[in-house]
Amino acid sequence: MFILNSSDPVPLYKQLYNQLREHILSGKLPAESKLPSVRQMAAELSASCNTVDGAYQELYAEGYIYSKPRSGYFVSTLDQEVAPQSLSGKKGKSNFVPPSQSRFAYDFHPARLDPGSFPTELWRKCLTEGLRRNSEEFSHYGDLQGDWGLRGSIQAYLEKSRGVACHPDQVIVSAGLHHSLEIIAHLLQENHTMVAVENPGYHLPRAVFENHGYTVCPVSVGTSGIELTRLKAGSATIAYVTPSHQLPLGYVMPVANRLALIEWAESGGRFIIEDDYDSELRYQGKPIPSLQGLRPTGNIIYSGTFSKILSPELRLSYLVLPYPLLDKYRRLYRSYNCSVSLVEQKAMACFMEQGHWERHIRRMRTVYKKKHDILLRSVETCFGQRAVVIGQGAGLHVVIRLPETPYSEADIIERAGQKGIRLIRFSDFHATGQPEAVTLMLGFGGMTGSEIEQGITLLSQIC
Ligand SMILES: Cc1ncc(COP(=O)(O)O)c(C=O)c1O
Repeated sequence: MFILNSSDPVPLYKQLYNQLREHILSGKLPAESKLPSVRQMAAELSASCNTVDGAYQELYAEGYIYSKPRSGYFVSTLDQEVAPQSLSGKKGKSNFVPPSQSRFAYDFHPARLDPGSFPTELWRKCLTEGLRRNSEEFSHYGDLQGDWGLRGSIQAYLEKSRGVACHPDQVIVSAGLHHSLEIIAHLLQENHTMVAVENPGYHLPRAVFENHGYTVCPVSVGTSGIELTRLKAGSATIAYVTPSHQLPLGYVMPVANRLALIEWAESGGRFIIEDDYDSELRYQGKPIPSLQGLRPTGNIIYSGTFSKILSPELRLSYLVLPYPLLDKYRRLYRSYNCSVSLVEQKAMACFMEQGHWERHIRRMRTVYKKKHDILLRSVETCFGQRAVVIGQGAGLHVVIRLPETPYSEADIIERAGQKGIRLIRFSDFHATGQPEAVTLMLGFGGMTGSEIEQGITLLSQIC
């Protein structure tokens, strides 16, 4: 009845899930019918029990089937009004399969947060409070730059915790870094055509500026961040930097370099984009104040996000624009409206006003410091001299270099996948060139301490 194709890129459990779901929705598997046991189904399909169990678990989690103790799994009765339509019942059948969710047992993706960390109850309270307090505001369009109360809270937080000196007037609430960069690219394109980005560095700025027709100039990164002599030797007039925690290498730009970078910007009408994406998460030493705070009236555009501490799915971030750009923004965007839902903004404002944000930061710092320390200990124990650790002490990932491994990056990612380990390609952070030695980026936010230990132990056996 079901056919699994091992040469299909869709994982086997997902193929089985899709086919079972289709049978349930089309009525071929009617409500209350019993599914074969995991073992029976695995034998029928010549597949592993894990494959069948993976498919059953997903159907169970989504409510297509339910389990009876000691009897097995049964098809649920679906409300036909709300059940999604069976694909076979539709005309113009498409082969589109939604991308599968991660099923890796050890997911070292650097952008994963602790799965239990979102403060759901507090957020629910703040949502309700925000709705209750401000109900009449929901009947009209609000401020283009975002909710005034939220902008005030962001300004106060940035001043206190990041040394950013600005007025709430300068704060723009945005829907993530790509949105902020779209605005910046638009504001600057009249007088600028070349933007310097860190190499290795985050791929998103490269993509956004290229999409806006800029020439993107990768500039190498040393232990002090972007290499200023190379930046100065080039013709870029905008520099995108992550000075407080360089992504991906984790280096911190020393104050002398920050001042030299500011001087570079000021001496030629150039601009610095300071992406301060995860500075809340420092586990060693003092917090590093922002670059913007060194020259509040300079050509520095400051960008921050709630994605690393609270949730990347809120799509809530912010920009601080210098006044000359702010005037331009207001002219160019006067017919636009704010892109972030006021409901979420009011909830965030309430979350900040009531002190939950600062408490949550402290809690998250403790949670991630523990995971960070476990990761470092595990790397030391399992890899010993084989791994050189880079950029530890902050954020949600650590980078390791493996100068002696006989395997390529692609081999390691493939071999890791076979052990249930997800790694991302470090080479993707390089706009040009490649790392000197195989380099792995190990995100630890989404795993438990014991998963980190087990994952690193397994990883050390295949590198
Ligand atoms: C360097 C850097 N900046 C910013 C962000 C956050 O972006 P957003 O606010 O769009 O979630 C990330 C996310 O991974 C990042 O790596």
